[in-house]
Amino acid sequence: MAEFSLPKNSKVIPGKHYPAKPGAKNPRTFRIYRWNPDDGQNPRMDSYEVDVSNCSMVLDVLLKIKNEIDPSLTLRRSCREGICGSCAMNIDGTNTLACLKGLDECGRGIISIYPLPHMPVVKDLVPDLTHFYAQHASIHPWIRTQSPPPADRERLQSPEERKKLDGLYECILCACCTTSCPNYWWNGDRYLGPAVLLQAYRWIVDSRDEDTGARLDELEDPFRLYRCHTILNCTRTCPKGLNPAKAIAEIKKLILERRT
Ligand code: SF4
Ligand code: SF4
Ligand code: FES
Repeated sequence: MAEFSLPKNSKVIPGKHYPAKPGAKNPRTFRIYRWNPDDGQNPRMDSYEVDVSNCSMVLDVLLKIKNEIDPSLTLRRSCREGICGSCAMNIDGTNTLACLKGLDECGRGIISIYPLPHMPVVKDLVPDLTHFYAQHASIHPWIRTQSPPPADRERLQSPEERKKLDGLYECILCACCTTSCPNYWWNGDRYLGPAVLLQAYRWIVDSRDEDTGARLDELEDPFRLYRCHTILNCTRTCPKGLNPAKAIAEIKKLILERRT
């Protein structure tokens, strides 16, 4: 039988338990991934019994843990309203935003929380998104033009042209979709993944952009684009209700159309 050995410190071990405070009215248990690169220890799952009486969202619970139980818990958050994308993590088995995930949407038992899957971890619930952002920069996420701008006004769009950006401009680059994509897990070094491809499509269909041909050239690659096999995890997980799989299919269609 084949034997596999895991890299040192890769096993996640049981961690500390923080029991509910006396008098807790509505305690629920949260198992949270903890890892500190500086202490040389294995990652562990700490469990916290938290009185959730005054909490509606999972982010409320995480901040309560940090403020009242264990200040060493590390996470990212900023806007608290689903706009900044910072609080993306895996909650109760799904990649989502902690500030938009209601406790009433979680299962009834213990709620497990991990960082976004298959990304290097900076600490605890904070993934390292350096490569993801570099991939985003690689698609030149700005309007590229050849012609000079009109002398007396901006480059305008008709309402119909502007409408083509609906379902695309709302992307907050939280990476929930990309880190749910099995093809990104295995080929993320070269495959751009759903979030970046949705962003690429956003610029391709912008009527003010004049570099569509070059943009499609840059994407027409067996790895950058064609690793997508339409598994649809990305669309299922997007906390903003967007459809990256459709955007990817549209890019493939445009490439096909220009060949004929
Ligand atoms: S498409 Fe959705 S899940 Fe993906 S990065 Fe954008 S907002 Fe996040
Ligand atoms: S549809 Fe494509 S991008 Fe989305 S999860 Fe599947 S393979 Fe990944
Ligand atoms: S804190 Fe900004 S999206 Fe959750």
